Amino acid sequence: MQRTLILLKPDAVQRRLVGDITTRFERKGLRLAGLKLVQVSRELAEKHYAVHKGKPFYESLLTFLTSGPTVALVWEGREAVAVCRNLMGVTDGAKSAPGTIRGDFALSVQNNLVHGSDSTENAAIEIALWFTPEELVAFTSTDANWVA
Ligand code: PPS
Repeated sequence: MQRTLILLKPDAVQRRLVGDITTRFERKGLRLAGLKLVQVSRELAEKHYAVHKGKPFYESLLTFLTSGPTVALVWEGREAVAVCRNLMGVTDGAKSAPGTIRGDFALSVQNNLVHGSDSTENAAIEIALWFTPEELVAFTSTDANWVA
């Protein structure tokens, strides 16, 4: 069983797509383990995107993530990291396959609605960055036998 961090970035909130996007992860059978709305500080944005420091788009990415509220979610389930990345589609919305979140709703590279951890190692780091242990909740799904 894996956990992964998903962000519904400011464009998702501004475009009122929070419900539509969250539904996709829920319907896949993933279990919600954490959820909150965050006005991201420059400090948190810098930590989250530390791996991209020095890249030409770094400053723009920070400005974008701090431009409005972001929804942070933790999803749990079998192969959760890869499953979420597949549901999201590739980075560039213009190249994302129809049926994926970005493929259906995004056209941009930066304003691509969602962020998802790219490995189990990074998922653990990112979840610890965005959530305290007390904010994460484990519960038993009554439909666990059907979806996992
Ligand atoms: S990279 O460079 O291969 O690591 O890029 P990638 O993993 O595809 O994307 C990492 C995040 O950076 C954003 N990104 C960009 N923003 C603005 N302009 C450009 N050119 C650009 N390229 C990548 C991209 O949206 C990714 O954001 P997250 O939130 O991690 O999905």
